Amino acid sequence: MKVYSAIKDIVKFRFQQPLASWGLVPTMGYLHEGHLSLIRRARAENNFVAVSIFVNPVQFNSPADLANYPRDNERDFRLLEQEGVDLIWVPEPEMVYPSGYQTYVEVEKLTNRLEGASRPGYFRGVTTVVAKLFNIFQPQQAYFGQKDYQQALVISQMVKDLNYNIDVVICPTVREPDGLAMSSRNVRLSPLARQQATCLYWALAEAKSAFEAGQRNAGELRSKMLSVLNSVKSVQVDYVSIAHPQTLEELEIVAEQALISLAVFIEDIRLIDNIVVSSGFKTPSNIR
Ligand code: PAJ
Repeated sequence: MKVYSAIKDIVKFRFQQPLASWGLVPTMGYLHEGHLSLIRRARAENNFVAVSIFVNPVQFNSPADLANYPRDNERDFRLLEQEGVDLIWVPEPEMVYPSGYQTYVEVEKLTNRLEGASRPGYFRGVTTVVAKLFNIFQPQQAYFGQKDYQQALVISQMVKDLNYNIDVVICPTVREPDGLAMSSRNVRLSPLARQQATCLYWALAEAKSAFEAGQRNAGELRSKMLSVLNSVKSVQVDYVSIAHPQTLEELEIVAEQALISLAVFIEDIRLIDNIVVSSGFKTPSNIR
């Protein structure tokens, strides 16, 4: 396993195997089973697997959040070695954004909603760094988690719009046994907050079971989620959403499919989660 920080070393190693299939897994490190599920999928589907570990400053809008983001490169390297990763990139911020840097990649409409509405500049930071990763590694496949549904959708849009010849592979959310979606931020939760954090999953589960029982009114589904979240004292709701899974527009009535998502603060730590529900019923094409 090669560990490099200089971009020229990455490019050199990458293009010693120009014809092989490369899978790239971009991360911000402090790896958990969610990240490892992406890496295992990449390992199974490619000759070479590259992982980037970079806490990307331009996608943080709070200096405190950036400073508090958990990091442990030594532990990450050990985990990646066990997974049979070929190449790790761990750059310093000045290597990615040298002084005088002034080019950013921005996806428009999709980024105005949900996470984009709550975190101005966030997706501009994500798409800029991911575009740079795509240019440096030129992978055939890049792996992202459904945990960050909107991120995966925005990156898929960027790939389409900018003609990257890359398959964006979206992998299912990996959860703790009690339903909490794995996240590097979970370690910052106190034991009490960690217990309370299961309410995100319960709120999603409540909306899902109402949907499965036939509820198609999106307002009612949002209320179900809010009542679960509001029953937990230290939870501050940022948003609950029932949206179209491709456009992310908020729905009034769910036709076939919906993205159910939410963002909350618990003890000032922001957590997000989502599921996609589907009625599974498609009108046969001969019935109008
Ligand atoms: P990070 O939060 O480290 O996540 C890296 C990848 O792991 C993302 O694609 C994310 O969706 C996925 N992931 C995180 N938790 C997961 C879980 N519980 N189950 C499945 N996948 C999970 O997302 C980022 O970093 C950054 O924005 C990045 C894309 C690296 C750009 O800086």
